[in-house]
Amino acid sequence: MNQELLKLDQVSKTFRNDKGHAIQAVKEVSFQVMQGHSIGIVGESGCGKSTLARLITGLTPVDAGEILLEGNRICGLSGKAQRQVYRQIQMVFQDPYSAISPRMPVGTFLTEGLVHFGMISRKEAGKEAERLLQMVDLEPQLSQRLPHQLSGGQLQRVVIARAISIHPKLVILDEATSALDVSVQEQILELLVRLQKEYALTYLFIGHDLAVVRSITEEILVMKNGEIVEKLPAKTLVRDARKDYTKQLLSAVFSVRELQEP
Ligand SMILES: Nc1ncnc2c1ncn2[C@@H]1O[C@H](COP(=O)(O)OP(=O)(O)OP(=O)(O)O)[C@@H](O)[C@H]1O
Ligand SMILES: [Mg+2]
Repeated sequence: MNQELLKLDQVSKTFRNDKGHAIQAVKEVSFQVMQGHSIGIVGESGCGKSTLARLITGLTPVDAGEILLEGNRICGLSGKAQRQVYRQIQMVFQDPYSAISPRMPVGTFLTEGLVHFGMISRKEAGKEAERLLQMVDLEPQLSQRLPHQLSGGQLQRVVIARAISIHPKLVILDEATSALDVSVQEQILELLVRLQKEYALTYLFIGHDLAVVRSITEEILVMKNGEIVEKLPAKTLVRDARKDYTKQLLSAVFSVRELQEP
């Protein structure tokens, strides 16, 4: 699996605020992720992590630079080509309740994408929903429930199951465990690790807690003011961190995961 899945080359994005002032949210960011690996992105609030994720998923158009998926440019596509490409990239956000319409039963939410892409028929949806719930260690009966009838942790499992259901190549997790309490967070991290192995997934894991991020990634990109200021191996993060900014992020760790190193 030594193949490059995602490559960013000098990607930039500038927003204008209400007063018309430019905010350069992402500045000439370049990195690559190999197939089946996971990479972390950390940095203080407002440093551009979510913007970067949105650029990769096509939710926000890039101003400059290139994004390649398996060597093919994916910026600036439209119509069918765009839908085909972005099916390969799924995103999981912090708040699972915002991902589902409050009136949609969990089972429908889980299989909507599969039916839409013609990967299963409507008839098969019920069984598939149950299979997906089991995949993330939930009871199949939850299929009939509405989102508010599930806990935050349960619903985040549902969102993860749906993201993985359509066999994406890349899963972007933007603070996906940050809102959960520590024991639930720990369980979701374990689930993510298991699913990654089982389905050979590639993760881009965004978070503010360095100990959590490094527990499921191999390499960590440290972002500050829209730029990547340091690129570190997850295992030896503490030892190898050079920038004061990274050291400050490390000292702010309050986490379910330890920061011990070999
Ligand atoms: N649609 C937008 N219009 C204008 N400015 C924006 C927009 N989206 C983001 N920004 C600005 O871009 C910068 C980066 O925001 P972003 O949401 O990417 O940060 P973040 O690193 O994800 O922060 P957090 O850790 O708080 O989630 C911020 O200054 C933000 O205010
Ligand atoms: Mg964010």
